[in-house]
Amino acid sequence: MSIEKLIKEYTEKRETSKRLFKRAKRVIPGGISHNIRYFPPYPFYVKKAKGAKIWDVDGNEYVDLWMGHYAHILGHSPEIIVNKIKNEIEGRIHWGLVNEYEVELAEILCEILPSAEKVRFCCSGTEATMYAVRLARAFTGKNLILKAEGGWHGGGTDLCVGIHKPYEESESSGLVPEIKKYTRTIPFNETEKAVRIIRENTRELAGIIVEPVAGAAFIPAELEFLKVLREETKKWGALLIFDEVITGFRIALGGAQKKFGITPDLSTLGKILGGGIGIGAVAGRKDIMDLCDPTKKGEKWVLTGGGTFSCNPLSMFTALTIIKYLKENEEKIYPQLDKKGKRVRESLENIFKESKIPVKCTGCGSLFKINFPFQRGVSLKNPHDVDYLTDTDKRDKEFRLRMIIKGVHIYRGGGALSTAHTSEDIKKIISCSKEAIGEMERSNIM
Ligand SMILES: Cc1ncc(COP(=O)(O)O)c(C=O)c1O
Repeated sequence: MSIEKLIKEYTEKRETSKRLFKRAKRVIPGGISHNIRYFPPYPFYVKKAKGAKIWDVDGNEYVDLWMGHYAHILGHSPEIIVNKIKNEIEGRIHWGLVNEYEVELAEILCEILPSAEKVRFCCSGTEATMYAVRLARAFTGKNLILKAEGGWHGGGTDLCVGIHKPYEESESSGLVPEIKKYTRTIPFNETEKAVRIIRENTRELAGIIVEPVAGAAFIPAELEFLKVLREETKKWGALLIFDEVITGFRIALGGAQKKFGITPDLSTLGKILGGGIGIGAVAGRKDIMDLCDPTKKGEKWVLTGGGTFSCNPLSMFTALTIIKYLKENEEKIYPQLDKKGKRVRESLENIFKESKIPVKCTGCGSLFKINFPFQRGVSLKNPHDVDYLTDTDKRDKEFRLRMIIKGVHIYRGGGALSTAHTSEDIKKIISCSKEAIGEMERSNIM
């Protein structure tokens, strides 16, 4: 089936969404408020979501793999969160004052997260990475931040560099030109090259921020790469920041830092932590985090936590509920999630061995991505490889559309599995991927 026919089929069953998008475009630039929610021809509008499923306004049902930007590790609207909100929301939406939930939540995070001696909460992962960068610069008295090529750390100004290939340009207009002087990139999983860049910049280097599993295709960092970043930052008086907004509470309860056994100086958190409500957090070494303390305003004092809604009781008690639940059920949940992820990745790899077009699966734990390499047999060790060696356009447009039409909502060729994904859901993900790739093989647009 050609792209035109696919779009026709998509459109025929999504007339209400089409009308909504037309209205949205008149009053919202591009029709969306988060860029990645757009996809051609137009996004479907969601009516409700429960467990592993979402339903759109035209009544179509999907097995969801996007899971609220990978936030829903227990599926959409899990009972434990919904009941908590129902029972506790009365009088507890937003106070703008301290509350007991935040104290208990911070205590638990310091217990489960290896790098956390103290924590500051905010409203999003973007805010968390912004504060982490500021802390690194203040603590070290230096300005340069190195980030991994292809790393997304939210929409904040400081890290708006090197997200998309060729990774050299800042990602937006409206940024000061100096941004490229103070934020530069290292290649992910390329230890030698990274060390060379670090050593060229030791005098200026405030910190390195890296996702321990590159979100672009869920490629885990090689242990050696992380070890060297740890050693080099220590050696040159810079800080190592792990952005665990995706991996925190997902790769393991204690995040990728626990799984990989490398402890950064600072960690940034979000997504799963909020139990579905907006949240972010910076956690780390006491001596660094104490720079936020307003009662000890010294020369290096760092302004954090300007958020009207930071630590609101709603986000704090949902966070507390989910983190306690994950902690109490850690032994069951994480092996189960890893098993589901492994099943999907291995089944897909087996199918792809037979396929005429080259297909490669990446991922770890409950995360997976399907990539379409231009050539068979390539290894994908970082976002650079994914951007240059695979057909990301085909993955994001044609494959996505074929999967959506079959009832699987996939983003960038994959997504995040949750405890709510059943064996049937997994079978559907695998069989629909097989069918979609079969269709792509047969299609004359290949
Ligand atoms: C690794 C990483 N860091 C930071 C962010 C920003 O978090 P938020 O969208 O909550 O601002 C994201 C969001 O996708 C992310 O994936």
